[in-house]
Amino acid sequence: MKAMVLDGFGAASTLRWDEVATPSPAPGEVLIRVRATSVNPVDWKICEGALARLFPPQFPLIPGWDAAGTVAAVGDGVTDFAIGDRVWSFCRKPVIQWGTYAEYVTMTAEAVAPMPASMSFSEASTLPLAGLTAWQSLFQVAAIRPGQIVLIHAGAGGVGGFAVPMAKWAGATVISTASAANHDYVRSLGADHVIDYSAEDFVAAVRRIAPEGVDMAFGTVGGEVLKRSYETVKAGGILVSITDATDKAEGERRNIRVKYVFVQPNGEHLRHLAGLVESGILKAPDIEEMPLTRAVEALDRNKLGHVRGKIVLTVG
Ligand SMILES: NC(=O)c1ccc[n+]([C@@H]2O[C@H](COP(=O)([O-])OP(=O)(O)OC[C@H]3O[C@@H](n4cnc5c(N)ncnc54)[C@H](OP(=O)(O)O)[C@@H]3O)[C@@H](O)[C@H]2O)c1
Repeated sequence: MKAMVLDGFGAASTLRWDEVATPSPAPGEVLIRVRATSVNPVDWKICEGALARLFPPQFPLIPGWDAAGTVAAVGDGVTDFAIGDRVWSFCRKPVIQWGTYAEYVTMTAEAVAPMPASMSFSEASTLPLAGLTAWQSLFQVAAIRPGQIVLIHAGAGGVGGFAVPMAKWAGATVISTASAANHDYVRSLGADHVIDYSAEDFVAAVRRIAPEGVDMAFGTVGGEVLKRSYETVKAGGILVSITDATDKAEGERRNIRVKYVFVQPNGEHLRHLAGLVESGILKAPDIEEMPLTRAVEALDRNKLGHVRGKIVLTVG
């Protein structure tokens, strides 16, 4: 099969388009013919070696964790899927080597699910990693409830763009941050208030909207933005970070819960997300499509930090 291959840690530009052996499904696994994969910041972070201590890499390495495609084969013991089924998956494995920037990928069947019938492969590929992150953060960890106020940073981004409509659907008042050019877009996703983080202090703006603070702040932007986000949360609320580690002492000082979330592959959660798509609650974000052969350009664009929605790499 053809794939984008990395021979050692380095910039995305060191990826090469090459022929590699097509993987075969082990018992309990599904072989997916990838039709689309979407770009996540973790993809270029993996190329640069950022997650090497968490997940041992093996070279040559194919990056990419999102897949939408069709079932090409199933391993022994897999009964839920048949060849040709349209599926999606968040394909993170214990060892990083065989990713989704390829024509085929294998994944344990428990982490694969039927993709929404109403979506194209490109649209479906935007959701597994980013959608699961938003879902697990808002509902598994923060357990947001109707009537609460939620701050979601970067509503124009991959994760924020799904978190905004999910929080709205849950009955929360949604405050989000984005640059001015993206305000209409973030409002169209369901945000009640959008703050231009480049024009005003977001903490002051949040406190103007919610003087007592928010029930949940979702830290999809790290560094200073995450550090200052503690100031937006009311006592008894929660700050969830998916970027930097949380500061437990600061949380205790402010009487707020703090939690770092690391998204987990989960076929059941994907089935749930498919239901939200089919009932019109979740839609595909803005998408810029490129062929997989342009992955280097796509990763470089993502690294600049201002993609609206998602870049999708189409395969074959
Ligand atoms: N822990 C986990 O399991 C997990 C899972 C998924 C992602 N992540 C991490 O979470 C972060 C976000 O991921 P993502 O996929 O959502 O990224 P992304 O789609 O690449 O984010 C791009 C968006 O961020 C917005 N943005 C940039 N700077 C901002 C700021 N200071 N305030 C508000 N918005 C800002 C941009 O909007 P403007 O152009 O309007 O600025 C752009 O739309 C990344 O660091 C990623 O690695 C972690």
